[in-house]
Amino acid sequence: MNPAPATGIPALIATTAQHGRARLAAIALITLLSAAAEGAGLVLMVPLLRILGVGPITPHDTGLGVVLAGYLILVACAALSTRARTVSIHALRIELVDDLKCRLHDALLRLDWAVFQSLRGSDVTDVLSADLNRTGQCVERLAALLAGTGTAAISLGIATVLSPALTLAALTLFIALTPILRRQSRRAVDFGRRETGASRSAQAIVADDLTGLRLIRGFGAEQDRSDRYRSALAGQRRLQMDFLKEAANADSLVRALAVAASATGLVIAIRIFGMETARALVFLLAFGRMAQAIARLQDGWRRVANLLPSFEAAIMLLNEWTARAEPPAGPPPPAPSRDIRLCRVSLRRGRTQALSEIDAVIPANAITAIAGPSGAGKSSLADILLGLLRPDTGQILIDGHPLDPGSSANWRHHIGYVPQDSFLFHDSIRANLRLARPDATEEELWTALDLAAAADMVRGLPDGLDHVAGDRGERLSGGQRQRLALARALVRRPSVLILDEATAALDAGTEDRILDSLRNLKRQMTIVIIAHRPRMLHEADHLILLDGGRVAAWGAGAAGRGRAGGGRGGAPPPPPAVAAGPGV
Ligand SMILES: Nc1ncnc2c1ncn2[C@@H]1O[C@H](COP(=O)(O)OP(=O)(O)OP(=O)(O)O)[C@@H](O)[C@H]1O
Ligand SMILES: [Mg+2]
Repeated sequence: MNPAPATGIPALIATTAQHGRARLAAIALITLLSAAAEGAGLVLMVPLLRILGVGPITPHDTGLGVVLAGYLILVACAALSTRARTVSIHALRIELVDDLKCRLHDALLRLDWAVFQSLRGSDVTDVLSADLNRTGQCVERLAALLAGTGTAAISLGIATVLSPALTLAALTLFIALTPILRRQSRRAVDFGRRETGASRSAQAIVADDLTGLRLIRGFGAEQDRSDRYRSALAGQRRLQMDFLKEAANADSLVRALAVAASATGLVIAIRIFGMETARALVFLLAFGRMAQAIARLQDGWRRVANLLPSFEAAIMLLNEWTARAEPPAGPPPPAPSRDIRLCRVSLRRGRTQALSEIDAVIPANAITAIAGPSGAGKSSLADILLGLLRPDTGQILIDGHPLDPGSSANWRHHIGYVPQDSFLFHDSIRANLRLARPDATEEELWTALDLAAAADMVRGLPDGLDHVAGDRGERLSGGQRQRLALARALVRRPSVLILDEATAALDAGTEDRILDSLRNLKRQMTIVIIAHRPRMLHEADHLILLDGGRVAAWGAGAAGRGRAGGGRGGAPPPPPAVAAGPGV
């Protein structure tokens, strides 16, 4: 689907039309029918009033029964079409908002990792909830606006037939009000933008409180957080009230002007133009309806303008995320059988040079440990190996073949990854493990749990594999989460296993059992361990020491000593060879 233009009513109409062309056409048709029925009902009022004795009866006027029946039928038609229109408008709103939600969610899931990391979670949820809610209201009001235009046009037509001169005079008065209306629309947009900003601030406070509640309680900061939230809401409320007051003032002004214009018109029509009473009353009715419709239109327009910034925020995000998606998956690169090499890899994260000119070799079917002080760039290197982050310069070679952006998504199929924060979803342990491989059998789940020294722990839980982990795994201990995260990585049956501080929360005995498993697994897979603890580093066949984003030292680990060389103080391994092959 083509990205929609990002701003203004045209963008809203284009997006709505892109989504529900048929529904929009149906709404337009129903509106015309309903307005035509209403108009015809009004025209029938002239003979009706004459029959009732208001004005002279002409030979064309039919009997009271016929006129009343015709009038009732028309009113019933108008009522039925109004009902159909209301249902269609609601359906259009709900479908459009759901469609935008799904498209935004899809785009978020495929977003370039660096862009994703620059987002604030609460902003995203605010767009998906508050902004899209307001977008729904905006679409609904816009559709009502279009319907109102139909009613106004038909009333205008009738008033013109009854008295062209008076209608023209009245219309001129309304047109004279246009500059005021335009100014109000601009103010409404401005109010809308400020409201969107205020909503983001309030949402951010709740999101932070949800994740940081333990800290808030621990430090007794409840009152401070509560005051912040109240003050954010008060700011938002002030903006809403200011807008509502302005809108109500303008609405009252237009309605008062409309009544004054109708009354003056009626006096002029009867006294100066000598219009017959029945026609004058119907003119007043038609003109009154038109004035009301115009008042509703300008109020509706102002509200659409006020809600529009939310739609614009959502659609701009959608366009930006779609443009910044990870490239579509190309041919899958092979699993490494020789080595993974990093050639002069550099990476900037924000304003930090996280990695500089990294040259390193990770041999296949061996354990490579990456160590170094906090902030040295270890997790950044893991993100590069996963193909989540792309180096600014340099490249990754799998058995000599470059890992290009198009291969990254498929490359990850080879990888089992345990992130530093061992995240679990609010779901059963079984569902959390099957995230890595949805078709894994029960037996395979238990094998992975065994290897991760987690099988006894899961058996001991009240619901075993059906035990629900809680938000982010909060219903389990840190060490339990880590073991389940490792089991999940193993369920995938990976060719490359990347563990980022995966045993940092475990006791020595449990860590030893996991090390035994890794020792056995290294014949089947390439293992990269990011760790601080000497016990883990001891197991490594190869060691890469990072400091300040550079390779400070490299060489054989304790397990591989005697087989490889090494270096220190900026002596990287020799430049790796690049094999010729597809994409090289
Ligand atoms: N999302 C990010 N945006 C900007 N800078 C980041 C981001 N993540 C990490 N950094 C910066 O990149 C540098 C390397 O961070 P990284 O997480 O790779 O370190 P690390 O070696 O894994 O540290 P630790 O042992 O504490 O986990 C740090 O200076 C850090 O501040
Ligand atoms: Mg880290």
